[in-house]
Amino acid sequence: MPRYRYPEPPPSAITPKSAWLNRRRLMAGLGAGLAVPSLAWARSLPPAAPWPGSTDEPLTSFEVATGYNNFFEFGTGKDDPARLAHSLRPDPWSVEVTGEVERPTVFDLDDLLASFALEERIYRLRCVEAWSKVIPWIGFPLADLLDAVGLTSRARYVAFETLYDPEQMPNQTSTILDWPYREGLRIDEAMHPLTILAVGMYGEVMPNQNGAPIRLVVPWKYGFKSIKSVVRIELVEDRPITSWQARQPREYGFFANVNPTVRHPRWHQATERRLHDGGRIRTEMFNGYAEEVAHLYAGMDLAENF
Ligand code: MTE
Repeated sequence: MPRYRYPEPPPSAITPKSAWLNRRRLMAGLGAGLAVPSLAWARSLPPAAPWPGSTDEPLTSFEVATGYNNFFEFGTGKDDPARLAHSLRPDPWSVEVTGEVERPTVFDLDDLLASFALEERIYRLRCVEAWSKVIPWIGFPLADLLDAVGLTSRARYVAFETLYDPEQMPNQTSTILDWPYREGLRIDEAMHPLTILAVGMYGEVMPNQNGAPIRLVVPWKYGFKSIKSVVRIELVEDRPITSWQARQPREYGFFANVNPTVRHPRWHQATERRLHDGGRIRTEMFNGYAEEVAHLYAGMDLAENF
């Protein structure tokens, strides 16, 4: 059984566009004036009905999903993003799509949400690092955006960049990574329907600490591939260098497919801690999405191309 169904969610899962856009404005307005993002307020809105499209594992609680994060622009502690990401201003926001495309475009985020009629498509996906979360993302396939700009025949990889603004992202003054955070995908990975750009979760606009206002989610890869707060998407001919590869090429490969048989040099990757109950479970090849994605890597040595 595939873990996702790609067709449209039922109408009951769709929040009217105007409500969505207003909610985003209100969130941004409230967040700007408060020390803590206005999540409690937002959660009092009626949630969209879940779209039972994907994994049936229990969801991680909203509190854990938004309280235990990696977002190094705000610090290295798992609670730093929740405490500090209020300085990020996700509205207004634009995403530049450029490079080997027919129509280079700077998308205003609100226009992008409106023009793709994307809001509230729910993807219930698992994400794994040393721990795993199951989150009902709201988003749309990256392929939709790439189709809209049209790829040239030279587009072989996609390079992503996070915002660079140390005033909004204070830990960008540190040297732990070469900022801005950069990631990349091969074009067939980028076009896969499970590769989504997420703009919300749990029926809400994306909380700052989870990568507001728009982030990548690539569920069959380790969490670090899922770059947050994206401002730039460039189609390129040559494989881009990612932030983690630049920092430690022996530890972080370009592909970073979840693979319990490949050891990270400093820890094994055979098991993961499920954040919803703290239980330790065996990590599955491609994070359980082998049926959907294994064909992308047919004939490749995945120990070498880790
Ligand atoms: N994107 C940016 N810009 N900066 C980061 O530090 N951390 C990555 C990824 N995307 C990161 C990022 C890592 S290591 C993980 S595990 C996931 O985001 C965490 O996403 P979550 O906090 O929503 O669980």
